[in-house]
Amino acid sequence: MAHTHDVLVVGGGAAGLMCALTAGQRGRRVMVVEHANKVGKKILMSGGGRCNFTNTGTTPANFLSANPHFCKSALARYTPADFIGMVDRHRIAWHEKELGQLFCDVSSKLIVKMLVDECTAAGVRIETDCSVERVHHGDDGFRLHTRHGVFAAPSLVVATGGLSIPSMGATGFGYELARRFGHDVLPTRAGLVPLTLSGKHQERLQDLSGVALPVEARCGRQSFRNFMLLTHRGVSGPAILQISSYWQPGDDLRLDLLPGQDALAWLKDQQKQRPEAELKTVLSEALPRRFAQRLCEVWLPNRPMKQYNEPQLREAADVLARWPLVASGTEGYRTAEVTLGGVDTDGVSSSTMMSTKLPGLFFVGEVLDVTGWLGGYNFQWAWASGHAAGLAV
Ligand code: FDA
Repeated sequence: MAHTHDVLVVGGGAAGLMCALTAGQRGRRVMVVEHANKVGKKILMSGGGRCNFTNTGTTPANFLSANPHFCKSALARYTPADFIGMVDRHRIAWHEKELGQLFCDVSSKLIVKMLVDECTAAGVRIETDCSVERVHHGDDGFRLHTRHGVFAAPSLVVATGGLSIPSMGATGFGYELARRFGHDVLPTRAGLVPLTLSGKHQERLQDLSGVALPVEARCGRQSFRNFMLLTHRGVSGPAILQISSYWQPGDDLRLDLLPGQDALAWLKDQQKQRPEAELKTVLSEALPRRFAQRLCEVWLPNRPMKQYNEPQLREAADVLARWPLVASGTEGYRTAEVTLGGVDTDGVSSSTMMSTKLPGLFFVGEVLDVTGWLGGYNFQWAWASGHAAGLAV
């Protein structure tokens, strides 16, 4: 005997819980099926335990997708202000860190508790430790065969997230289900992820592990100005995580080491002011000392400033403004914050998140081919897409 509901949500993460509470508030009988031992594990670990739950500057331009228009409708109908409204109603204290990024003052646990409390108030049933063994679709809708029995409903919401951090419960279940019901799944890869270096590129920087500096990282037409952190295996820090979503092996990746400054004008000025000082001494005042020295050992000739002629200064300025970072790959899903690619939005309605191939089937959150920048955008997508589906199921 199947237990019947109006809506079955597979995945009790950010998007699944938002969809469930929204549908529950509309009087739908909703059940969330989560295979991990608790819901919202990624929310708990996010933002260093304080959950960067939204970004007040969210626009569609902050997302990567084969169809950049897809995210517009849902983002417009559920905004950062809407989510902040719920956070405030639950008296959760928050602060803006930088660039519109909002974090909890105390703990991410409060965000999970808020979502679960809203679900409970709306009569949503949540089953944890409940893995799905089989999915059946027939005339009467969907049947989920799970460890805890068989559940049936006319609407099935796939909210299983991406592939990053498999130890937190990530699976490819959503992609497999999508393919089975005739959806295309665009190739997936790790995003918001540290980059690795190898061979001489790694050897040149390895011992500088721990050094951080502001840079502007550029790949193709995209650039991000923020910090870079040198690590034992490569490079990380917000500027690198951001650009990693736009970079693929073989792509040209350049760093402006004096972001916001005209490197040539700066060098000329230094030459005028301190003709006797060596380049490495001058650079050590603008960059971390060990990094400046390494630049002058490997990439730049080191001599007193007065000995550089104009073309040589131009060459040095070019290295500083367009320093080539030859990455060999990424740290992969083990440490990635998000998964790029996923269920092709072509087969999904942008206003309801419902499949255009199989009515009653919905996809929300990261399982879709919509990936945000670092800074609270991915949660905002989870809330907005979950809300859109919650209003439609
Ligand atoms: P999410 O991953 O939240 O949920 C999917 C759920 O489905 C999980 O609970 C999983 O266990 C469950 N599931 C998977 N397969 C299943 C199956 N077969 N059966 C049943 N259940 C299944 N974003 C942001 O905006 N601000 C931030 O601060 C951070 N910080 C951050 C830190 C770290 C370390 C990571 C890894 C990620 C972030 N992110 C982030 C990204 C953010 O966590 C992510 O984009 C959202 O959680 C996506 O929400 P979803 O609900 O789509 O997936």
